[in-house]
Amino acid sequence: MAPLTDSLGRVHTYLRISVTDRCNYRCTYCMPAEGFRWMPHAEVLSYEEITRLARIFAAAGVRRLRLTGGEPTLRKDLPELVGMLSEIPGIQDIALTTNGHFLVDQAEPLARAGLRRINISLDSLRPERFARLTRGGDLARVLRGIEAAHQAGLRPVKINAVLLKGENEDEVEELVEHFGQQADRTELRFIEYMPFEARWHQCVPAAKVRQRLAERYTLIPQRGSSGEGPARSWMIEESGLLVGFISPLTEHFCAGCNRLRLMANGHLRTCLAHEDTPSLRDLLRQGASDEQLDRAIRAMVMGKPWGHDCQADGGTLFEGVMTGVGG
Ligand code: 5AD
Ligand code: SF4
Repeated sequence: MAPLTDSLGRVHTYLRISVTDRCNYRCTYCMPAEGFRWMPHAEVLSYEEITRLARIFAAAGVRRLRLTGGEPTLRKDLPELVGMLSEIPGIQDIALTTNGHFLVDQAEPLARAGLRRINISLDSLRPERFARLTRGGDLARVLRGIEAAHQAGLRPVKINAVLLKGENEDEVEELVEHFGQQADRTELRFIEYMPFEARWHQCVPAAKVRQRLAERYTLIPQRGSSGEGPARSWMIEESGLLVGFISPLTEHFCAGCNRLRLMANGHLRTCLAHEDTPSLRDLLRQGASDEQLDRAIRAMVMGKPWGHDCQADGGTLFEGVMTGVGG
C-alpha cells in the first residue's frame, strides 16, 4: 500500500496515541491549576477502537507507536492495550511517555506486555521546585519510578526535561551530573518550551544550553541521533551520557516531520502546532469500513499544515493546550 504522504511529500511512519487527556499532575506550562473540562468517557476511544485504527495506520506504513496522555498510566489496564498493539503486523516499536508517578507498579507489567522504550518527564531534581512546577508532584516517587523502569529492562530510559527561563534553567548541570551516573541505561533530553496560546515565551534556546555545557564538559556530536525523532544528540565524554536537544523553536524541524497524533477522542492532529483536527471517531462509530477509514486518514494527512513559525522571540503561538495532545 502507498505510504502516508502529505502535500509536501513528507512520509508518516510514526503515530503518537494519546489514551487520555487526564493527568494527576498539573505542570504549570501544560495545564491551568484547576485542570480542564476533561473529555467525557463516551467520547474517548476504547482499546478496541484504538487498536482498529492503529491497524489501519500500520497497513499504511506506520512502524512506530508511542502512547501519551495526559498521563497514559491513568488509563485502566494500560498493559492490555500495549499487548493488543504489539500484535499488529508491521508495528516494530511501542514506546510510552509518562510523568513516572505510577511506574513503581506499572513498569514491569508494561514491559511484559511488549513495551520497548519509555520517556519520563522530569524538569527538576529539587523536591520543592518539582512539586511547584508539577503542582503537587512527588519527586522521590518519580525517581523510584525511573528505577522501576530500569529494573523492568526498558532501555534506554529517556528523561525529558523542559527548560523554562527563570524557573529551572539553572539545573542543566545538576541534571547532567545526576543522570551521568547512570549513563549506561539513561539518556537525557532538553526540550524547548513551546508557547501555547495565552502563555508567555519562556523558551531557553538549545544552543545556549549546549554552550553552557561545553564550558564544563567535552561534547561529542552524535551522527544520525537516536531513533528517527527530531532530537539531536551529543555525548558528554566525561560520563558517557547521551544528551539530546529537541528544539522546535530555535532549530526548526518541521520539514522532516514524520509524525501524526491520534487524540484520545479520536481526532487526528496532523501538526502539533495546529488545532484543526478532523474526527476519525465519528466515522468509526458510524460504521465506516477499513477502506473508508484509510481513505479518510489519507485525506487528513494530505491536509497537514506545513509547520509552525513560532520562534523563541516571536511568531505565532501554538494552538490549543498541550494536555490531550501528548507532546
Ligand atoms: N513545551 C514543551 N514541552 C511540553 N510538554 C508539555 N507541555 C510542553 C510545552 N508547552 C512536555 C512534557 C512531557 C512531554 C509529553 O511534553 O514535559 O515531557
Ligand atoms: Fe501531566 Fe505531563 Fe502535562 Fe505535566 S506535562 S501536567 S505530567 S500531562
